[in-house]
Amino acid sequence: MSKQLWNKGFQPDRIIEEFTVGRDRELDLRLARYDVQGSMAHIRMLRSIGLLSQEEIDLLLPALEDIAASIERGEFVIEPGVEDVHSQVEFLLTSRLGDVGKKIHSGRSRNDQVLVDLKLFFRDELRNIAGAVDRLFKRLQMLSVEHKNKLMPGYTHMQVAMPSSFGLWFGAYAEALTDDVQLLLAAYHIANQNPLGSAAGYGSSFPLDREMTTRLLGFERPHYNVVAAQMSRGKTERAVAMAVAAVASTVGHMAMDLCMWMCPNFSFVTFPDELTTGSSIMPHKKNPDVWEIMRGKCNRLQSLPNELTILTANLPLGYNRDLQLMKDIMFPATTELIDCLDMASYMLEHITVKDDILDDERYDYIFTVEDVNRLVLQGVPFRDAYRQVGMEVQNHTYKPTREINHTHLGSIGNPATEQVSAKMNELLRPLTDSSVSGLE
Ligand code: ARG
Repeated sequence: MSKQLWNKGFQPDRIIEEFTVGRDRELDLRLARYDVQGSMAHIRMLRSIGLLSQEEIDLLLPALEDIAASIERGEFVIEPGVEDVHSQVEFLLTSRLGDVGKKIHSGRSRNDQVLVDLKLFFRDELRNIAGAVDRLFKRLQMLSVEHKNKLMPGYTHMQVAMPSSFGLWFGAYAEALTDDVQLLLAAYHIANQNPLGSAAGYGSSFPLDREMTTRLLGFERPHYNVVAAQMSRGKTERAVAMAVAAVASTVGHMAMDLCMWMCPNFSFVTFPDELTTGSSIMPHKKNPDVWEIMRGKCNRLQSLPNELTILTANLPLGYNRDLQLMKDIMFPATTELIDCLDMASYMLEHITVKDDILDDERYDYIFTVEDVNRLVLQGVPFRDAYRQVGMEVQNHTYKPTREINHTHLGSIGNPATEQVSAKMNELLRPLTDSSVSGLE
């Protein structure tokens, strides 16, 4: 017997079924808990508008709670022959409760059902990403304070340029993450709108109480217009993808720097042997494979918005099955990003930073601007001071004073660590406050 919700008496071709279902049976497991939450809110709303009786609700809610418990225990599966999570939940209810189970789908379509599942899923996943970002942020901030006075070369054009510090370097990636959190937050607000009630994408002739399901599911507001709500499949994913790509670009950039700083020609930082990898032929090697894999993963994650844009670029308005494939792209991606963030935090817990890097004479010229500025403070016009030091460099007579005195906001001596932490805390508040999206 066919288990398709839409079965009308003919047996669908098995090869066609496998092709169209794709990876849904595996990927939809991540939506299962949200599917049950959505169904609970939907049937409570159906009760309130008289489409279900109290007796029916008293049968349905405990049965859905049982399913929710089996999901949390990891026992829920999507059986062979069942298309997706939505069909499986309805199938379980009907086999347990008979005709009552068949009533829950009034005023709903799998199109708004999968949408509501995805919104709830992305809402949680964005909070998980924000948590991992915050852990890395805190580690970077701690390191920035710890290594505030350890100087390192700053480069432009990959040429030695001006003094920088590990305090600035760690702190720079921390503050860069605050910008990425702005995008996480924007994606969160886009995801946090209730599409339930848009049904197949054009609403329903039942007087659905969409404010009620919005409240029950803890959404910020309804996604009002039913067509806009359906259009948000794709728009939501693209917003999440842009935020994921932003975080990945920060982490990938940091991974690149660390690969370079670990190179023996630099030797600015080291990690314990156990956190490096070896070579099968060269016995001396301690390779930065962790940072290289991270750089690669983060580079791939930056192609997410592009992949989604190409997948959805020429779709007509309304639901199209192509949209299903976004799950294949997005679900592994958010997990991968969280893995990278947590791995970065773990690695940085064990970083060793070299002292006195700038004592090496190869960095002598890094102090030229300091010496120009010193002359300026003694009253020499900047252009004359620049020329004087420039000529010393040209004639190989330049001797650095090696004294630096950067005090302005955001500079080596005053990296504004506390202000950056305050900025991050404020941005993260909606993403970490558990009362904001609590389910009723
Ligand atoms: N697996 C489908 C998806 O992710 C569920 C929605 C199916 N809707 C439909 N009209 N075939 O899009």
